[in-house]
Amino acid sequence: MTPGLEGIIAAETILSDVDGQNGRLIIRGFELDQLAGQQSFEDVTALLWDGFFPDLPRNLAPRIGAARSRVFAELSALDTGLLDLSPVEAVRALMGRLADGDDLDTALNLTAAPVVFTAAVVRAKAGLAPVPPDPELSHAADSLRMLRDRPGTPAEIAALDTYLTTVCDHGLNASTFAARVVASTQAGLTSSVLAGLSALKGPLHGGAPGPIIQMLDGIAARGDAKAWILDALDRGDRLMGFGHRVYRVRDPRADALKGAVRRLAAEPEGKPGRLAFAETVEQAVLDILKARKPDRSLQTNVEFYTALLLEALAFPPATFTCVFAMGRVAGWIAHAREEAVCGRLIRPASRYVGLRPRVAA
Ligand code: ACO
Repeated sequence: MTPGLEGIIAAETILSDVDGQNGRLIIRGFELDQLAGQQSFEDVTALLWDGFFPDLPRNLAPRIGAARSRVFAELSALDTGLLDLSPVEAVRALMGRLADGDDLDTALNLTAAPVVFTAAVVRAKAGLAPVPPDPELSHAADSLRMLRDRPGTPAEIAALDTYLTTVCDHGLNASTFAARVVASTQAGLTSSVLAGLSALKGPLHGGAPGPIIQMLDGIAARGDAKAWILDALDRGDRLMGFGHRVYRVRDPRADALKGAVRRLAAEPEGKPGRLAFAETVEQAVLDILKARKPDRSLQTNVEFYTALLLEALAFPPATFTCVFAMGRVAGWIAHAREEAVCGRLIRPASRYVGLRPRVAA
C-alpha cells in the first residue's frame, strides 16, 4: 500500500497537468503564465468547462453575473445560527441549500455561491446588511464590491482576478479527488462541490493561508524569525505555506502570486514593508527546512503568497479558504463533469488488518 496514495494514477484528465519535477502547471494546453493575469477568471472557467456542457456559451461572464443575483436570493435563509460557524463552515452550509443537478445553471450557481456567500457572511458577522450583486461587473470586481460596499481599484480587481485564475485547477489534489469520488456516484454537481470544499478546508490543503498570517505576525512580534521557526518545528508543527506532495521545486503558482502582490503594491493596514518582511521569513524557513530535511526538497507552495495577496486585498484571514474556493470551484465542476461523463464508480479496495473471528475449537 502507498500511504496517501502518493504517485498513484487515479484518473485520466484533459483538464490540468502538474509537473512536480519541473515546476510547471498546464491548464487545458496553456502554461499557467499564459492564463493568470492574461485571461479573466470567467474566460478560464469557460476553457475548463469546454466540452462538458452542451449549452456552454462562449462568453460566460454575463451568465456568472446572473447566477450571482440568483444565488443572492438564497440569503433570505441566512439564519443567525450560521454566524456562530467559521466563514467556510457558514458558506458550506449555505451552499448545501442549493439544488443538485448536472446542468449548466447548477454549475453557474455553484460558481457564484462562494463569492456571494463569503461577502454576506463577513458582513453579517460585522452586523452589516449584504450588498446585492451587480451582474454587469466581473466576478472579481463584484466580489470586492460586495465585501466592502465600495468598488475595488483596477489594481485590486486585477490582483483578485489573477488569484482566482491561478488556483482554478491543479490536477488530482485532495479536494478535486473528493469531488470526483462523489461525482462518480452520479450524485450531482452540488454534492461534488461540497465534498471538494470540505476537503479544501483542512490545514494541510486550502486551510493553510490563514495560519500563515499568524506565523508572520508571530515572527514580527518576536523579532527573531529563526527562533520562532525552530520552536515551531520542535513542537512538531508544520510550517504552513511550505512543502507539497507533488512539487519538488518551487510551486509555479507561488511566483504568479508573488508577482500579483508586487503589482498590487498595497500594504496591509499597520504592516508597512510586509512583502519584504515575508521574503525574509520565507528564506529563513527554506534554509531551516533544508537543514532539517536534507533528503526532502521542501519549497514554498501557493499558500504563502496567497496569504500575502489576500491580506493586501483586506480579506479577513478566516475567509482565505472561502476565497480559494471561489477559484477552485471552476476546477471541481470541470472534474466532476469529466468523471460523471467518462468515469466509472470509484470504489477502491482496502486490506483488512483487524481481528479475525475466532474459530470455535
Ligand atoms: N513544515 C515542516 N515539516 C514539513 C513540512 C512543513 N511545511 N512539509 C513536510 N514536512 C516534513 C514532514 O513532516 C515529513 O517529515 P517526516 O519524514 O519526519 O515525517 C517530511 O517533511 C516529508 O513530508 P512530505 O512527504 O513531503 O509531505 P506530504 O507530501 O505528506 O505533505 C503537505 C505535503 C501536506 C503539503 C506538507 O508539506 C505540509 O503539511 N505543508 C504545510 C501545509 C501547507 O502548506 N499546505 C498547503 C499545501 S498547497 C495546497 O494544498 C493548495
